[in-house]
Amino acid sequence: MKGIILAGGRGTRMYPVTKAVTKQLLPVYDKPMIYYPLSVLLLGGIREILIISDKDNVPLFKALLGDGSDIGVSLSYAVQDRPGGIAESFVIGKEFIGDDDVCLILGDNIFYGQDLTAKFEESKRLIEKGECEAVVFGYPVKNPGEFGVVEFDPSGKVLSIEEKPEKPRSDYAVPGLYFYSSSVVEIASGIKPSKRGEKEITAVNEAYLRRGTLRCTRLYRGFAWLDTGTPERLLKAAEFISTVQKTQGFYVACIEEIAWRRGFITKEKLKELGAKLKDTEYGSYLLSMED
Ligand code: TTP
Repeated sequence: MKGIILAGGRGTRMYPVTKAVTKQLLPVYDKPMIYYPLSVLLLGGIREILIISDKDNVPLFKALLGDGSDIGVSLSYAVQDRPGGIAESFVIGKEFIGDDDVCLILGDNIFYGQDLTAKFEESKRLIEKGECEAVVFGYPVKNPGEFGVVEFDPSGKVLSIEEKPEKPRSDYAVPGLYFYSSSVVEIASGIKPSKRGEKEITAVNEAYLRRGTLRCTRLYRGFAWLDTGTPERLLKAAEFISTVQKTQGFYVACIEEIAWRRGFITKEKLKELGAKLKDTEYGSYLLSMED
């Protein structure tokens, strides 16, 4: 399975901060926002990743992350000319996806919880075994009407999925992490832009619902899903990360640590990366890592 991080967008809710730089390069406490979705893909064992952003920000992401070889993965980049919708990722990523399955994560979504890797792998397996063609997550929220809302039966079969419904049929919002078979390229290509001029991800999911091949993996309450799209939410996310890190002493979304723990890089490489940052807390953390 390959991975895509969609990290463009207008970022209007964060103006003026995001007038000149995309929000996904802003810090969430002590690291750039994109480290968080990137770390989710790494934890899920995904090593071929496409990062999509606008033409001004793609060079900045390249300067930050390079080709991925430092952390033992392959990173490539593509430009989205204008924010044409989340589902446009699969049209832009057509060549990259080829005949593979693909996981899409939004660049401003943070996931944190003990179960994450297991839930990720469970979803990936459903697609790889051909048990379904699309998997979304369902996360319980107080205000489901502000999100895509998914209704599903105990087996995980999706019964309905609706974008910002007035009368939500469940309390489960759909976070920005989606799994598809390669058929998503064709499905997304056929989606007509909505009234706001975007290829909507919900339209893709509805297409799979009609085919009877959409499933939902349920996330439980002991799990954090944070969207960082407004100044207030960004601040809350930074506070959350700082609290977890200071309490436990473990970093959240330390991509070098994850790469090493997953066996993508050697201990020597990890120490080399730490040495380059040795005057920072981040570098000391990398240098302190023990088996
Ligand atoms: P949104 O938060 O829906 O939109 P936005 O980031 O443009 O922000 P705002 O509403 O403040 O104007 O986007 C969700 C994520 O998807 C975010 O990481 C940006 C990304 N995105 C794109 O990269 N391209 C797109 O066409 C869209 C719609 C979103």
